[in-house]
Amino acid sequence: MPSNPILPPLTPALARAYDVETFRRDGHAMVDALAHVLDEAQRRQAPSSYPGHLPQDERKHWENVLPSMQSWQDVLTETTLRSNLLHDPRYMGHQVAVPFPMQAWVGAWTDLLNNGQAIFEMGPSNAALEEVLMNELGQRLGLPADCGGILCHGGTLGNLVALLAAQQHLSQRRGEHWWSEGVAGAPPVAVLVSEQAHYCVDRAVRLLGWGQQAVVKVATDENHRMLIHDLDRRAKECEADGRILLAVVGSACTTSSGAFDPLDALGKWASSQRVWFHVDGAHGAPAAFSAKHAHLIRGIQLADSVVMDFHKLCGLPALCTGVFYRSQEWSFLPFVQQAEYLWAAPEGHDWWDTGKRTFECTKRMLSTRLAAVRAAYSWELWGELVDRLWALAQAFAGLVDDRPNWELAMQPQANIVCFRPADPHISVSELRKAYLNGGSGYVVATQFRGKEWLRCTFMNPLTEMADLEQLLNELERFVSSALKKEG
Ligand SMILES: Cc1ncc(COP(=O)(O)O)c(C=O)c1O
Repeated sequence: MPSNPILPPLTPALARAYDVETFRRDGHAMVDALAHVLDEAQRRQAPSSYPGHLPQDERKHWENVLPSMQSWQDVLTETTLRSNLLHDPRYMGHQVAVPFPMQAWVGAWTDLLNNGQAIFEMGPSNAALEEVLMNELGQRLGLPADCGGILCHGGTLGNLVALLAAQQHLSQRRGEHWWSEGVAGAPPVAVLVSEQAHYCVDRAVRLLGWGQQAVVKVATDENHRMLIHDLDRRAKECEADGRILLAVVGSACTTSSGAFDPLDALGKWASSQRVWFHVDGAHGAPAAFSAKHAHLIRGIQLADSVVMDFHKLCGLPALCTGVFYRSQEWSFLPFVQQAEYLWAAPEGHDWWDTGKRTFECTKRMLSTRLAAVRAAYSWELWGELVDRLWALAQAFAGLVDDRPNWELAMQPQANIVCFRPADPHISVSELRKAYLNGGSGYVVATQFRGKEWLRCTFMNPLTEMADLEQLLNELERFVSSALKKEG
């Protein structure tokens, strides 16, 4: 050991990376540059809201330009030119939030603070905020006063965690120890879920170790809502096969067509069978904030757990998901793990150590983002957003209905509309390809009832009637190029 240790000086690059004046100067320029990006997108200035490059071309492009890039601003400029412009009102594709612009500043701020909580000491204010908000928002969904939960990164993860809670609940009820001993020796279980549910439910059940057989798909009606009599039939089949019911999952709403399962009937059925009732409200749970549309999720108050994505219909950037439980205590069900360097008593129900209840150890300052929305606008903004986006879907469905050469899959229940040309000889995938190449916006496609459908999700409240008409007009221009070859 040297007696007089000497610390070498900070390298010039490290000194530059942390220089306050550089940060200040860059930040000022950044504000104007980003406001310009927002303004251009909202005024539909790009030829299309979708860049339209093929994956292999895009990769080649980055391989070519990256080595010559000298500044982080170069990277951002190039990325913007080659990205989806979600704030462009002609983007009508996936269920991705068009973030409230102030979230960019909240993001910058929290990225600098970077209090990534797992234990209280790593992120004291955001851990406490999270506890307050999950109780408040859970109650707004209709859950009891002692509800609570955690924030995590994404609906896929949230659904996995909620189903793990359901599994632990069942394991404890049966006096078994699946968390410590594994499920290899456990009796087979069943998770009952709509045939239209998001694939992450299926994935979660497999990850929990129960295998594909444990995912029991329930039939839906012509509007893609789960049929209770089929649920009952499938449950009886499971019982006859010796399967224990682990959970029934309601979708609010489905991804493909925006259908809301009858949560009230599902909840009553689940409680009559003493089965955990989980609601995947990743997309549609914010209907709770709209006086006009809250009826769509009637029955959610019966849920044992609910997942809601704030990065879909709540104006937050990806990813921010709430996993709500009807009792805050249940948020401790999924995980018990020794980690001496983090917490002394793994079994203790210390709400402030959020890592005890999340899959993630470190996570972002998600609650700060939510609190910022509450402070700036109040939760009522979410209701207004839902009302506007649902109205856009209704308006678009009306336009499709008015054109005899178009077919609507069903009247929209949410902000998702599936439609196609009435002529069965027209290939939807070809039509979409032509539109993405030469049109001004972005739509996606899906398949059900043996047909391909174009699918619009209205996420941008600045979309106007003229944008909806333009979409149909442009699609009509490309219809002839999408005619399937006979024979
Ligand atoms: C109903 C539903 N559940 C879960 C998910 C998955 O959410 P995430 O993309 O946040 O993982 C989606 C995504 O579209 C969804 O629509």
